[in-house]
Amino acid sequence: MDFSKTSSLHVTCALGLAGFLEAELSALNFPVIRVSGNHVITQGNLTDCLKLNMSLRTAYRVNYELISAPCSTQQELKFLLKKFRWEEVTTVNGYMTFQSFSNHPTIKNTMFLNQFAKDAVVDYFNAQYGKRPDAGKFNDNAISIFVHWADNHLKVYLDTTGIPLDKRGYRFEGLYAPMQETLASALIMATGWNGSGALYNPMCGSGTLAIEAAMMAANMFPGLLRRNYSLMNVNGFSMAACEQLFSELSQLKKGDLQVPIVATDQSARAIAAAKENAKRAGVDHLIDFSVCDFENSTMKPGNGIVILNPPYGQRLGEEQQLIPVYKSIGSFFKKNCSGKTCFVFTGSRTLSHQIGLKASRKISFYNGDIECRLLRYEMYEGSKKRPN
Ligand SMILES: C[S@@+](CC[C@H](N)C(=O)[O-])C[C@H]1O[C@@H](n2cnc3c(N)ncnc32)[C@H](O)[C@@H]1O
Repeated sequence: MDFSKTSSLHVTCALGLAGFLEAELSALNFPVIRVSGNHVITQGNLTDCLKLNMSLRTAYRVNYELISAPCSTQQELKFLLKKFRWEEVTTVNGYMTFQSFSNHPTIKNTMFLNQFAKDAVVDYFNAQYGKRPDAGKFNDNAISIFVHWADNHLKVYLDTTGIPLDKRGYRFEGLYAPMQETLASALIMATGWNGSGALYNPMCGSGTLAIEAAMMAANMFPGLLRRNYSLMNVNGFSMAACEQLFSELSQLKKGDLQVPIVATDQSARAIAAAKENAKRAGVDHLIDFSVCDFENSTMKPGNGIVILNPPYGQRLGEEQQLIPVYKSIGSFFKKNCSGKTCFVFTGSRTLSHQIGLKASRKISFYNGDIECRLLRYEMYEGSKKRPN
């Protein structure tokens, strides 16, 4: 394919993260054409797609538009799919995988549409070359195609990502329902932390928040941790150009941070996993890990960010047992966190009320299917009056 040809890019993310993704794209000088609940539309070429895959912290996938056309029947769908010059994307020796979404009344399930699209592409190759690429489930060698047929309009995308971007590749051991890396990144962005003050993360679990914060502060791009984007299987992909981009982005990394990032947890097992994860992410030297109850976390005087993701009890009875923990979070903020801006990320409104402090801001997120909130508490220093 022509890697310099501009097209529409459909960049997907978890529900609720589109605003953060929009900010990331703008900071990278990409135009923002439309923002929706779980995606942002921008523009760029396939080389841009590679850069976005390597750089974005809150995205799932970068899809490059191949076809966009009105389409109201299966006959038209077949015609449009067979009209595209698929040899631009892959050869008869390639391997393809198909995903889809549709709200068309004739499409009862996406498996049918995946198969329909695959058959049309196979027909195209057979007609042109008497041979066809293999097709099936996603694997590391796959050209990944996403078919979106909704409201009588067809869009076919080249999924340039493959394994979604929240799978950074650093997580060694997931403990206590670790949060998605993309969500952790968005939460750090939502705190407004810019790496100029200390960041404390008691109850760090497997360390996702601290690791994402360290990568951000050190200007390390999460996508550089992996080298398996499905774009790499597309005709015309240049490994040399890719290595050049890897090297340019790697050089932007800062050697050290001027401020501490402190991550603690009461569980020695969690801290061992968090340290291992940080090592794999290349940020273990930037985070001070230790085992302790959150109430015993020590903090330097002055400003900084404190962020906690306490358990929030998804099973019956667990919520009740966690009431004392949430009550102590409120006391901990008052006693130990003077001058800091504190945040609690939780999926339980009932428990959040037990903190006993008035949140100055509440931001909604989704952790999987669970609606969660990031609550912000300003812990002004003793004599300082709260601004109006
Ligand atoms: C929901 S998990 C945090 C998950 C984390 N965000 C991640 O991505 O892995 C909650 C963590 O709080 C820790 N925890 C619970 N009570 C604690 C306490 N009193 N002091 C310190 N850590 C505690 C648990 O050990 C657990 O690792």
